[in-house]
Amino acid sequence: MASRQHRSPAPTSFTPARRVQHFGPTVFAEFTALANQHGAVNLGQGFPDFPAPAFIKEAAREAIAQDRNQYTRSAGHPSLVQALAHVYAPLFRRLLDPLTNFVVTAGATEAIFATMQALLDPGDQVILIEPFYDSYPASVTMAGGEPIYVPLRPQDGAAQATEWALDLDELAQAFTERTRLLVLNTPHNPVGKVFNREELTAIARLVQEHDVLVLSDEVYEWMVYDGVEHVRIASLPGMWERTITLGSAGKTFSVTGWKIGWAIAPPHLAKAILMAHQWIPFCVATPLQEAVAQAFEQAPEEGYFDWLSAMYQAKRDRLIRVLEETGFVPTAPQGSYFVVADTRQLDVPETALDASEPRDVAVCRWLTTEVGVAAIPPSAFYSPEHKHLAQHLARFCFCKTDSVLDEAAQRLTDKLL
Ligand SMILES: Cc1ncc(COP(=O)(O)O)c(C=O)c1O
Repeated sequence: MASRQHRSPAPTSFTPARRVQHFGPTVFAEFTALANQHGAVNLGQGFPDFPAPAFIKEAAREAIAQDRNQYTRSAGHPSLVQALAHVYAPLFRRLLDPLTNFVVTAGATEAIFATMQALLDPGDQVILIEPFYDSYPASVTMAGGEPIYVPLRPQDGAAQATEWALDLDELAQAFTERTRLLVLNTPHNPVGKVFNREELTAIARLVQEHDVLVLSDEVYEWMVYDGVEHVRIASLPGMWERTITLGSAGKTFSVTGWKIGWAIAPPHLAKAILMAHQWIPFCVATPLQEAVAQAFEQAPEEGYFDWLSAMYQAKRDRLIRVLEETGFVPTAPQGSYFVVADTRQLDVPETALDASEPRDVAVCRWLTTEVGVAAIPPSAFYSPEHKHLAQHLARFCFCKTDSVLDEAAQRLTDKLL
């Protein structure tokens, strides 16, 4: 038992390092706590609340039973990198080498962090498209880089993700002598935009002109709807050599807590990422990598990928319908499992709108505490100078069981109509 005299002194003079000083709790932690406190249906944080496919769970049990329990190769467990090379070669239309084209990471999030550590020198600039996955700016600044923000701009009353677009002149102006990297996210969280070939070709032209690298976060690659084509920027002419593409088993097989992700890149970039990754986790969970390898082998015969996008498309349609019926103007996503919705037409009481915080935060707080359905305020996905662009928006996710979506629908209908 610890005695009093062994307690450490009060940390009066302690200040965290500058690289983390300005971070607060994430918006997800804040709104999940609020949802729990008020018994709200949580359509905030984007994780599936339904079981993972039986074949991946069985493969994990099997891998542990077979004592695949020790450290493995830092760049990725041999069976997983082989499976990844097999799956992705036709998608990139090139032969992929399991040993030099992949780095398996602790979720795509670690791949983002390791990439920034590997590519950025202090003062290097990284172009981030808003709204962004919030680990991008954190990873850029922790590596000593400087984020430069360019927002996606929706047309007024946008009802489709295609109506959110990059202004190419604005994007062109963001490049400087110091630009090292552009981060792309397609299918996009939270807008659900799947960048089309023409848009990607325009981005490719700019990065080639400025000799800039691309980190293409494609973790929602298997969740694409209405027959839309998911184009990989690395497959466009001249782009393979300058692109790192990210994937995630968490998203692909509904196992977000496993934290298995990967970077796919030409050997010179993969090697740089590995140099950082070997000093971050060294390697990630061996039996779970084995299970993901097995899952990729079995998925085609199970018809898994078609089932996954059909299942999510039906949930998307269900949520969109309810949001429309209850006074929101949702943007229908072409991919991912998020919907951003315009809240301008809701009858939000004046007392719920606190001038000291952004309107979207106040509205999402009201939705969570008074309506009983938690949503995330998208201003968390914008730089301070652009937070106002999110003031009329709320982000919902539909990666939830139908009964949870129905309960959310009931509450929205009861309280808003
Ligand atoms: C765009 C995007 N990238 C990456 C991630 C994280 O992936 P992982 O869970 O594999 O770290 C998320 C999770 O929400 C995401 O939305």
